[in-house]
Amino acid sequence: MDTVLRSLFSSEEEELYILDCLSYFMIFMAVLTFLTLLFENVPYGRYSDRKYGFPVSVRVAWFIQELPALVVPLALVFWTASSKTGHLPNQLLIAMYFCHYVQRSLIYPCLIRGGKPTPFASFALAFVFCIYNGYLQVRYLSHYAEFPSDWVTHPCFITGSCLWLFGWIINLHSDHILRNLRAPGETGYKIPRGGMFEYVSGANFFGEIIEWGGFALAGFSVHSAAFAFFTCVVLSSRAVAHHKWYLSKFEDYPKSRKALVPCLF
Ligand SMILES: NC(=O)c1ccc[n+]([C@@H]2O[C@H](COP(=O)([O-])OP(=O)(O)OC[C@H]3O[C@@H](n4cnc5c(N)ncnc54)[C@H](OP(=O)(O)O)[C@@H]3O)[C@@H](O)[C@H]2O)c1
Repeated sequence: MDTVLRSLFSSEEEELYILDCLSYFMIFMAVLTFLTLLFENVPYGRYSDRKYGFPVSVRVAWFIQELPALVVPLALVFWTASSKTGHLPNQLLIAMYFCHYVQRSLIYPCLIRGGKPTPFASFALAFVFCIYNGYLQVRYLSHYAEFPSDWVTHPCFITGSCLWLFGWIINLHSDHILRNLRAPGETGYKIPRGGMFEYVSGANFFGEIIEWGGFALAGFSVHSAAFAFFTCVVLSSRAVAHHKWYLSKFEDYPKSRKALVPCLF
């Protein structure tokens, strides 16, 4: 793996420069995505559409598209001279990243009940994103990120880590509620109840946005901030779309429930 990286970059300075560029490009893509999503929903799940390519089984799609987010970072940590993995802040941030993606790529696909097939274009874009972001986050943290020696006691790290954990728990709990709305074999939709769904239609998305926002605060870099921003753009759009969809489908949909931010939005 080091040989591959050495053939791609002439020096560490050059690779770090490319990692910075990838972050700014991700922010640029998030802005473009935001504009696109004003006119179109991300086409998977209830918004699946054949015009975006042939359908891929939902479990296969989630497993394969998310796998690079796990495999690329594993290769970077174990098969390169990852010089910063001995430092506690780097270790903790890498651990947060892996906790999420072990669940998302290996466990989540097995738990899905009756999910709609994913159009090939959505699947392919998610696959590419997972390679891109897996390399960006974990290469930076494992080889370049430098933190002050007392960073783990800094209020940014402590607050960010707590937010990361809080968000992850909300995300897991909300996905669990959604899954249990369906009996095995069912594919229809019901009104989600309980947990953060009492307050917002996009409870799972709210959790994931808080999670990566916390990660960005704890990591305090443009690399983690770009990922949090991209996640926020995609998932807030999906929360708004789901909210409108629920209001149009269910007459008895709770009127006090917001789209994404409890009591506000
Ligand atoms: N970091 C990122 O950029 C990013 C991007 C996308 C997703 N994610 C995360 O990935 C997870 C799944 O995302 P998603 O967009 O697929 O979420 P979703 O649209 O809420 O769907 C999640 C699952 O629950 C089912 N479901 C949703 N609402 C339901 C209802 N009212 N009744 C019965 N079943 C329902 C869906 O089935 P159908 O397939 O039949 O709709 C699907 O299997 C979430 O945790 C999300 O935060 C992260």
